[in-house]
Amino acid sequence: MNIKLILEQHVIQALIDNGIRNTDNLLINSTRQKKPWDYQINGIIKIATMLNINSYNLAKKIACKIHIHKIYQKVYVSKPGFINIFLNDKWIIEMLEKKMKSTRLGVKRVESKNIIIDYSSPNIAKEMHVGHLRSTIIGDATARIMEFLGHNVIRISHIGDWGTQFGMMLAYLKEQKKTIIIKDINFNKIYQKSKIKYENDKMFSKKAKEYTLKLQSEDQLCINIWKKIVDATIQNNEKIYKKLNVTLTKKHIIGESFYRNMLPGIINDLRNKKIAVKHRGATIVLLNNFKNRNGEPLGVIIQKKDGAFLYATIDLACLKYRYEILHADKILYYTDIRQHQYLMQIIEIGKLAGYIPNHLIVEHHMFGMILSKNKRPFKTRSGDNIKLSDLLNESIKRAKIIAKQKNPKLSTNKLHFLAKKIGIGAVKYFDLSKNRSTNYVFNWDNVLSLDGNTAPYIQYAYTRILSIFKKLNISMFRIKGKIQLKEQCEKQLGLKLLQFEEIILEASNKGMPHILCNYVYELSTIFSNFYETCSILFSKNVKIRDSRLILSSLTAKTIKKSLNVIGISTTNYM
Ligand code: ARG
Repeated sequence: MNIKLILEQHVIQALIDNGIRNTDNLLINSTRQKKPWDYQINGIIKIATMLNINSYNLAKKIACKIHIHKIYQKVYVSKPGFINIFLNDKWIIEMLEKKMKSTRLGVKRVESKNIIIDYSSPNIAKEMHVGHLRSTIIGDATARIMEFLGHNVIRISHIGDWGTQFGMMLAYLKEQKKTIIIKDINFNKIYQKSKIKYENDKMFSKKAKEYTLKLQSEDQLCINIWKKIVDATIQNNEKIYKKLNVTLTKKHIIGESFYRNMLPGIINDLRNKKIAVKHRGATIVLLNNFKNRNGEPLGVIIQKKDGAFLYATIDLACLKYRYEILHADKILYYTDIRQHQYLMQIIEIGKLAGYIPNHLIVEHHMFGMILSKNKRPFKTRSGDNIKLSDLLNESIKRAKIIAKQKNPKLSTNKLHFLAKKIGIGAVKYFDLSKNRSTNYVFNWDNVLSLDGNTAPYIQYAYTRILSIFKKLNISMFRIKGKIQLKEQCEKQLGLKLLQFEEIILEASNKGMPHILCNYVYELSTIFSNFYETCSILFSKNVKIRDSRLILSSLTAKTIKKSLNVIGISTTNYM
């Protein structure tokens, strides 16, 4: 039951009945408000302004029309044209009973679309670090949400496995005569050392460029070493994904190298179509919609003077492939804000060249940076990137201390199991609960806090509900009875439970898991208020007790589903 949609449909119908036909572009905004009403529709004001009519009168007419439906208890209008809605308890109860019987908690499957989610996509040869966290977990949470709704999600990790870093490493290995004994070599070290040389040594950087070209023309020896580096990095990354409870595996990797045979064709095609031109030996695309500081069209280089292809060339081939071969209905990129202009340019060129149709939804779901307490980029003390594996281990270590304090008698095994769920969940949730478009400050005390909008708080709220059922020796899955919504706190909880579907749809449409996080946090606090005010364990009236148990059971299931659908586990004890 998508309450927001039902309200919108009623309002649109009422507008049409009033002779206002142009409703498709008219935004109807039902805001969730705590008090005193359940919903508020404020889009009528906009419509009236556009039509140059009195908004209060229009709102009154609409309110009059819609209130015949049984979903409403009371509909009243306030100036200058808000429609305030109180929902009917009977209807809420009916819907909650439906939700109780549904294995999907009342969430309907949507019409399935092929949605490509490009996420995580680390560059190969380096260990994953904190800079990969956001793309990996926000992309993964969105993939899970969309899949739950019924979409065919195609996860893709567009790994950087065809760039200059290999030229650098190959040149370095050659110099150190380490071309053959590559088996147990620490690639991260080689990468770092060769990078320093690349940046400081002109001769070396020339060599590295030569090696990049050599690799790209598929010199056998280079390809062999390259393959080993790629495989070893992928193996390492898979361990991180597993630890992070992220659904990406090897089979989701379609890296840059995959498109290598398409690249010459792309250059030719763009030149034939007069989209690309030669400029000082290189091949570039000039885009009128993107200007530099002097107001001149910005150029995107797609082939260098020496013949090398670029990140952009590959992304153009990739866009074409995703539409033509993978039949994408929607393509979503999860990378940080710095690639925004670049991706917009790629999409524009893709459309100009006809690789993707104009109507195709291609979105950049960008995100901000993770900062440390002093508002500087989140790095180690010495200024290096924090390895993702170190961050996760630290979180598990800290979670273990907390779990032990709460539960001193726990066995070592159980403690470790619990610490992993809490530690990993906390880091992921802390990130996912922030609006992705902004930066945030990473602070261990907040990440692992048992108070506030954190995973430990919500995981704990979940175990508290389980313990109610344990105390009464009743199964959460068998509880029967009729729901009653007499107290204000019961009604508030019932309504919140029903909003799960509209929330999950909104989180999916915007690719913003924080919307779901906010919801599950609010649900947990509302439950806590309900549990304090509405007695369950000591209730003498069995009917009231069972009604409250049903609400508790629904809350537990909704919390569990909400966390699971963003890739966070719940535990049965804490
Ligand atoms: N490998 C890139 C990086 O580390 C991200 C790739 C994003 N996807 C893409 N199709 N460009 O920045």
